[in-house]
Amino acid sequence: MKIALLSRNRNLFSTNRLYNASTKRGHSVDIIDYVRCYINIGENQTSIYYNGQKLSTYDAVIPRIGASQTSYGTAIVRQFEMLGNYCVNKSDAIIASRDKLRSFQILAKYGIDMPITGYASHTMDIHDVIEKVGRTPLIMKLLQGTQGNGMVLAETMKAAESVMNAFKQVDADILVQEFIKESSGVDIRVIVVGNRVVSAMQRVAPEGEFRSNVHRGAATKHIDLTLEEEAIAIKSTKLLGLSIAGVDMMRSKRGPLVLEVNSSPGLQGIELLTGADVAGEIINFIEKDCNR
Ligand SMILES: Nc1ncnc2c1ncn2[C@@H]1O[C@H](COP(=O)(O)OP(=O)(O)O)[C@@H](O)[C@H]1O
Ligand SMILES: [Mg+2]
Repeated sequence: MKIALLSRNRNLFSTNRLYNASTKRGHSVDIIDYVRCYINIGENQTSIYYNGQKLSTYDAVIPRIGASQTSYGTAIVRQFEMLGNYCVNKSDAIIASRDKLRSFQILAKYGIDMPITGYASHTMDIHDVIEKVGRTPLIMKLLQGTQGNGMVLAETMKAAESVMNAFKQVDADILVQEFIKESSGVDIRVIVVGNRVVSAMQRVAPEGEFRSNVHRGAATKHIDLTLEEEAIAIKSTKLLGLSIAGVDMMRSKRGPLVLEVNSSPGLQGIELLTGADVAGEIINFIEKDCNR
């Protein structure tokens, strides 16, 4: 196969692993910095250029779109789709999963449980939307946040209200969420490829930190998922229209809760911990799926 790996940096662990897993299987791979792609749109002239050259078609495109480049990156992925290239994660699915609110709406509609979440636009409704979510502490997070950025833990209703108001002042889109106390600082990352869970880990935040992102220094630990957790991760991935995902979940008193679904999950933490060949699983899946 001829594969396009859309990534900003060929030295990233995940990019490297996907590159090596592909070439090991005899595929040729172009690593393409999608931010440096430019496009033409028009009848009979839809095209993608890179380094001054018009790109030909690929058998498979693997998008690894960074959170800060969602808009431009997904426009490029959509252009690949328009030209008939198979993209393992589709542009619309990447967009839906990047927006925490939109994801929750899709997931809740089909019976996936999550921390109770509120969202309001007008400052006059902030007090009420916070009360509806319920007791403190409460978490406020940006709709498009990643790696634990743009998150605040508010201990009191008053604090929650001030934080929401402050974010509104700078036009930031923020949601308010029930804090899952019983699992504070601990979450589960599940890697789904196609219809299968290929690996999972638990992440434990350092002392005094409630965010268990690896980028915030969380320790990674082995975990055995329950069948229910596996099913929820697979269903969430499918509902958002993704083929490859890293599903973040928390174990709560009322069962597993989904926090978010990541369309470009990092491979470093999970592969180094479990020894799983996640990159290889992804390429194996693409080999089968791109011909369907
Ligand atoms: N409602 C919550 N209750 C308790 N902890 C949470 C909650 N939401 C997020 N966290 C913690 O913060 C981390 C980051 O949250 P997440 O929603 O996954 O956003 P990000 O996109 O920044 O990773 C989670 O991994 C978890 O440890
Ligand atoms: Mg997360």
